[in-house]
Amino acid sequence: MQNNTTFSPEEIARLPVHIAAIMDGNGRWAKKRGLPRTAGHREGSETFRRAAEYMADIGMRYFTVYAFSTENWKRPAEEVGVIMGLLEKYLQEAIDSMVAKNIRLCFFGDLTPLPDRLRRLIERTDAISRDMTGLQVNVCLNYGGRQEIARAARRLAERVAAGELRPEDITPERMGDEMYSAGVPDPDLVIRTSGELRLSNFLLWQSAYSEFYVTDKLWPDMTEADFAEAIRAYMGRNRRFGGL
Ligand code: FPP
Repeated sequence: MQNNTTFSPEEIARLPVHIAAIMDGNGRWAKKRGLPRTAGHREGSETFRRAAEYMADIGMRYFTVYAFSTENWKRPAEEVGVIMGLLEKYLQEAIDSMVAKNIRLCFFGDLTPLPDRLRRLIERTDAISRDMTGLQVNVCLNYGGRQEIARAARRLAERVAAGELRPEDITPERMGDEMYSAGVPDPDLVIRTSGELRLSNFLLWQSAYSEFYVTDKLWPDMTEADFAEAIRAYMGRNRRFGGL
C-alpha cells in the first residue's frame, strides 16, 4: 500500500538522485528538553541512521551529510569528543548493516587531524564498503567547502607547475574531478533543518544548481515523512539550470 513515505511509480521516475543534508538543531533539540547539547547529537546520530536507511529503501543513489565542519573544532572539547565518539560508534555498528543493506560509506574532508582510532575505523569501513553498489552515503567530516575548492586549485596548480597541464586546461570539469566528490553527481536537493537560511560552507562547489529545502524542524525530530515531504517539494520545482 502506498502512504506518505512511499512513492508511486510515476514519482519514483522523478526522484532526486542525490540528496544532501545540513543536520542542524541538535543543540536546540536538547535545550528544549533541559538536556546537555551532547544528548542532541546522540539523538541526531540516530536520525542520521534512520535517514540513511530510508534513502536506501526508496532507492536514492547518493546521500551526503554534514557531520563535522572545519569550524566545528571551535566548540567545547567535550562536545567535539562526543561527536567523534558517536561517529566511532556509528561506524562500528554500520560495518555489519552496511553489507546487509548494500550501502557504501565514503568520507569527504581532511581526515588527518581526526583521532587515530576513528581514522583506522574509517579506513576499515572504506575497504569493506568499496564493493557495495546500493546507496552511497558521503559523510562530510572536518569538511569545509572553501577548503575543498582551495585544495582542488592547489592540486591543479601542482600539475601545472610540473608541466602536466597548461593554465588554460583548468576547466570547471577538471576542478570537479579534484573535489572530494569526484565522480558523484551534484546534489539535486539540499535539505537544511532548524530554519537557518544559509549554506555554512557546505558543498559550495557542488550546490551551484541544487534546489534548497529548509524546514523549521530540528534535525533529531526529522521523520521519514518529513524527508518524503522535502522530496515531494523538490519534485514540484521547475529546474532550469540557467536556461528558460
Ligand atoms: C548541528 O547542530 C550538528 C552538528 C554540528 C553535528 C552533527 C553530528 C551528528 C548528527 C552526530 C554524528 C554524526 C554521524 C554521521 C553519526 P548544532 O549543534 O549546531 O545545533 P544548534 O544549532 O541547535 O546548536
